[in-house]
Amino acid sequence: MDRNANILIVEDDSTLSFGMKRALEKDGHNVRTVETGEKALQVINSQLIDLVLLDIRLPQMDGFEVLERLKEIDPQPIVIMVTAFFDVPEAVKAIRAGAYDYFPKPFDNDAIRQKIRKALENLRLKQEVDILKQQQKEKFPANMLFGNSPEIREVQKIINLVATTPRTSVLIQGESGTGKELVADAIHNASNRRDKPLIKINCSAIPEQLLESELFGHEKGAFTDAKITKKGIFELANSGTIFLDEISSMKMALQPKILRVLETQSFRRIGGTQDINVDIRIIAATNRDLEEMVRLGEFREDLLYRLKVMVIDLPPLRNRESDILPLAKLFLEANNKEFNKSIQKISPEAEKLLSQYSWPGNVRELKNVMERAAILCSGTIITPDQLPLELKPGKGKSIAFASSAISQPTPVTTVDTDSANQSLEDMEKKHIIDVLNKHDGNKSKAARILNISRSTLREKLKAYGIS
Ligand SMILES: Nc1ncnc2c1ncn2[C@@H]1O[C@H](COP(=O)(O)OP(=O)(O)O)[C@@H](O)[C@H]1O
Ligand SMILES: [Mg+2]
Repeated sequence: MDRNANILIVEDDSTLSFGMKRALEKDGHNVRTVETGEKALQVINSQLIDLVLLDIRLPQMDGFEVLERLKEIDPQPIVIMVTAFFDVPEAVKAIRAGAYDYFPKPFDNDAIRQKIRKALENLRLKQEVDILKQQQKEKFPANMLFGNSPEIREVQKIINLVATTPRTSVLIQGESGTGKELVADAIHNASNRRDKPLIKINCSAIPEQLLESELFGHEKGAFTDAKITKKGIFELANSGTIFLDEISSMKMALQPKILRVLETQSFRRIGGTQDINVDIRIIAATNRDLEEMVRLGEFREDLLYRLKVMVIDLPPLRNRESDILPLAKLFLEANNKEFNKSIQKISPEAEKLLSQYSWPGNVRELKNVMERAAILCSGTIITPDQLPLELKPGKGKSIAFASSAISQPTPVTTVDTDSANQSLEDMEKKHIIDVLNKHDGNKSKAARILNISRSTLREKLKAYGIS
């Protein structure tokens, strides 16, 4: 199939599509051209098409709509979207919408021929790999807590231990993005409650008055808006698990009621006079230091001690560096699947950037960075070009502190800012970094501005250790 593919070109500019058709026919492909989305869908409906070159700007139905409807008719064909100019958000949108790849206009026909050759080759490889993979069992459940650092292994141990207890409550502590919710899922799924509900509620996202009635429900007439009796999640989650996310946001007035459920496994609806008994495990999570909040008089000590029976601490990602690259590779594999890519590895320079970064947003940030990189990567290797600027030294790292949301840039360089005290080399280094930063790390642009060739710039970057 990497020889004679059936290719459909959807392009309203007939000069363009004619040139492409001729170029692709040279490679032995069967090529059809159409000028509108409607006609493209008719062809997809009636013929076997392997690959579609789809312009985004089309009269009437635009490329995104064509893509969506095409996928409904036949998910098989590879779709390469043609974007009008190099527009990253549009390219990202195309890939998210299920396109295999994008190609910016204006382009030369040789480049597009090469891209198509690669796409067809990748498709063939992917089909082979898919068959192999199907023969193996899924090695990895989608949302498993992954990592091999001593810290994560310890967490896994505690999860398994807690899961065997019938209703011991758990307090999960860690910065945002460290995997607290994932741990809650893992505990629930490993426990005997796995077939019962796991209800999650984010205490910071719901106004105080509403939170109480969400949790405990209310009797008809308990307050003005209570027109009917309503069950709260403590009733709805009976026999299951409740995950109270960001419990530090829970107001002091509500805290004793939670304490009471923890102690007696019973509660009353708002306005109710009867105790309702439930069987529930409570898992709470916080990214603030509750001990400190107790000292500040913002959190009840008795509730903290009741929650603290079992504590799971999720260390920030920067403190378990050995997890960074394995996680990056795990996400890369997931992205390959999702975006139909065959990225094989991360270059050593990119690995270095990933390992050295401070990850204030922790695993969530790493996951997003890898998704973006996979989308931007058109080859088989992730390179620093596809990583965001904040990972690159010279852009200023930010450090997040465990107990607060403050983040501060660390000094970028210790070079004396008074230029009269600087060596020529320091000045040059600083100037190169400034120019690169000003142009979003674009090396071609920087080279032009510095009036040196790209290869000279590359040598200087290497010499100064700028990546
Ligand atoms: N150890 C891990 N292995 C795999 N994915 C993880 C891990 N830790 C976090 N994640 C992923 O990172 C994202 C953030 O995790 P989440 O549990 O929501 O963090 P938190 O609740 O601490 O903010 C989720 O997409 C989650 O699946
Ligand atoms: Mg969370």
